[in-house]
Amino acid sequence: MKDEITREDRVDALGGMGCKRKRVEDARFTQGKGKYVDDIKLPGMLFGDFVRSPYAHARIKSIDTSAALAVDGVVAVLTADDLRPLGLHWMPTLAGDKQMVLADGKVLFQGQEVAYVVARDRYIAADAVELVEVEYEDLPVLVDPFEALKSDVVLREDLVAEDGSLPDGAHGPRKHPNHIFTWEVGEKEATAQVIDSAEIVAEESMYYHRTHPCPLETCGCVASMDKVNGKLTLWGTFQAPHAIRTIVSLISGIEEHNIRVISPDIGGGFGNKVGAYAGYVCSVVASIVTGVSVKWIEDRMENLMTTAFARDYWMKGRISATPEGKITGLWCEVTADHGGFDACADPTKFPAGFMNICTGSYDIPTAYLAVDGVYTNKAPGGVSYRCSFRVTEAVYFIERMIEVLAIELNMDAAELRRINFIRKDQFPYQSALGWEYDSGDYHTAWDKALKAVDYDGLRAEQAQRVEEFKAGKTRKLMGVGLSFFTEIVGAGPVKNCDILGLGMFDSCEIRIHPTGSAIARLGTISQGQGHATTFAQILASEIGLPADSITIEEGDTDTAPYGLGTYGSRSTPVAGAATAMAGRKIRAKAQMIAAYLLEVHDDDVEFDVDRFAVKGAPEKFKTMKEIAFAAYNQAIPGIEPGLEAVSYYDPPNMTYPFGAYVCVMDIDVDTGVTDIRRFYALDDCGTRINPMIIEGQVHGGLTEALAVALGQEIAYDDMGNVKTGTLMDFFLPTAWEVPNYETDYTVTPSPHHPIGAKGVGESPHVGGVPCFSNAVNDAFRAFGLRHTNMPHDHWRIWKTANDLGLHG
Ligand code: CDP
Repeated sequence: MKDEITREDRVDALGGMGCKRKRVEDARFTQGKGKYVDDIKLPGMLFGDFVRSPYAHARIKSIDTSAALAVDGVVAVLTADDLRPLGLHWMPTLAGDKQMVLADGKVLFQGQEVAYVVARDRYIAADAVELVEVEYEDLPVLVDPFEALKSDVVLREDLVAEDGSLPDGAHGPRKHPNHIFTWEVGEKEATAQVIDSAEIVAEESMYYHRTHPCPLETCGCVASMDKVNGKLTLWGTFQAPHAIRTIVSLISGIEEHNIRVISPDIGGGFGNKVGAYAGYVCSVVASIVTGVSVKWIEDRMENLMTTAFARDYWMKGRISATPEGKITGLWCEVTADHGGFDACADPTKFPAGFMNICTGSYDIPTAYLAVDGVYTNKAPGGVSYRCSFRVTEAVYFIERMIEVLAIELNMDAAELRRINFIRKDQFPYQSALGWEYDSGDYHTAWDKALKAVDYDGLRAEQAQRVEEFKAGKTRKLMGVGLSFFTEIVGAGPVKNCDILGLGMFDSCEIRIHPTGSAIARLGTISQGQGHATTFAQILASEIGLPADSITIEEGDTDTAPYGLGTYGSRSTPVAGAATAMAGRKIRAKAQMIAAYLLEVHDDDVEFDVDRFAVKGAPEKFKTMKEIAFAAYNQAIPGIEPGLEAVSYYDPPNMTYPFGAYVCVMDIDVDTGVTDIRRFYALDDCGTRINPMIIEGQVHGGLTEALAVALGQEIAYDDMGNVKTGTLMDFFLPTAWEVPNYETDYTVTPSPHHPIGAKGVGESPHVGGVPCFSNAVNDAFRAFGLRHTNMPHDHWRIWKTANDLGLHG
């Protein structure tokens, strides 16, 4: 038996950064002991349910609630007329627009909330919903944003002045009643000039279809107004509980200290649970009116049809290069379909999110981006789904443009990427569209990835397959999908990132208890990412107490410090940094206490894993556990007792994780069926806090990428009916469709993050979608295909093969 405890043993005992600590949350999740919003049951609680519009665009002529109100057990039926006197019939959106809470004179998308029935139980409420009689007068429907920009049909009459003029929107002038904004970045003339005079130019138009994050748990809340004490408690599926508290206060007039917002366990968010929904407002009003708590939980169809969608970007690109393949310019024009209200949860100054990361991982000297936002008769939203503010669209765009340029140049797409990567010595790198990439080593990652999959071998096999196909020996083609992505996560520096005027910092508050255990509270909220596990690991390494002795608590605005929440992979870059910084404040005080106890000067002790030791005399030390106790009983004269710290962290920059993905896919040209033979994913998220959690994040993100690329879609017919509003039609991959993922990594720390960590949650989705899509496109490259749009479901692939004449 080993009798001496080594330094390595002490490090292991902490369970700090870099170790594969098991998820502490899973003890309750795997035993069905999680507490989700629908698990909250309060005495006398009422239930709310919505009457929703069957029409995508209609005027409301009348609403008759009498039959519903006559049902035994129905307590109230709210309409816009009931909310109007309170000024709550409309609410502000996170994008600076406003949105109807309940239909005010008209509806703008199918499923829009028209009336809110409050009843004794959920079933009575649902039955009464059927009895509310709404008379609609249907109006022409606009589901195509290009049509919307030409049409005489005005969707948002509230945004047209009485004299017919168009007041500016939140993001400047509007050029048509159905137009929301134009956002331009980069050098228009210079880019046009470079591209127009280039020897090689590739052009392509592509559609990144509308989809939906479809978290397993739908959105919901419980509002409980305590009229005696004047306190409102709101439990809900909120990815940003503090922001929700501020919004509720601003729109209800209830002072913020009288509102307590609690996010309990959340069953997946992916951006779907960032915004404010009518259900929250109506439940709060209903609770205030009735004096009883009110629960509202969406069903699956409501979630798919009406809550924050993702993507819906029409992108047109031009890219120029020298004959040797050096890219000289990039042009990108986007028409963005935002639905009936602009409810994108982007930072205020970025109406199209961080789409200006669309120069990707490449050293492109000149670029220009223009995005036009457009109203249509579809549900609002836009940036949800594991995408930090349109980065998925940007990376899809550039990674498809690279493939198209490779075809134009008759060059290998892997080589074209290598020629154009930003070199390691160019970091920090200033992109043509305004970002400063913090760190990267793209060539090393690319070489590692290509070697791991034997890229040359794959191309040789593919060429042979093409020959066999042409000779009639096989009906299966092989695609090699490549993608190299640069993410931008960690919104964000307060100087340029805010939501509704709230700067996007984040926070951590730590209290060390006398016996050397601790509680840390953060402004973020986990929805499955494992924050309770990983943030304790950061602290274990920073303050020298075991991760198992540190409780992480998030999601209660009465106890947690103010933060902007969890989305856009911002938790690690921002709250993770706040955690490290708060830990360092603890350590600084611990150093003084240790020196006092050891009777030496502060500068004569140094931190070592779990203790402070006298420099040059490591046998003289005080452990952090001892120091914690001393903080409460042997306070240094003149210094207050206790060991607590709080940090509000405003990051100096975003972090820029990156990765190299390769997908090997077989395609049956007669059925359109795809078979992913291999998927290799190399991710670089800087310093790795928990490799096992990172792997889980990558698996999840890739699976969601597979879904989007290969079939998932929120599709509309011409009448604005949602065609994919159930899980019968909306593709949610299961173990059956998911391939085995090979994960790998490099480590390029962020130079400005206190522990060098970058985010990871969104990377696999951002990099995965173009990789799957490129594999499909690449399979047909030898037969003349340049580009085919997602989602690549079996039928569309079959059609591509058919259009190329491959069915004989
Ligand atoms: O904001 P969100 O939690 O969705 O995303 P994230 O910051 O990318 O983190 C997702 C999970 O991966 C968290 O549990 C992180 O602590 C963990 N992670 C990690 O272990 N190492 C990194 N370098 C980045 C994230």
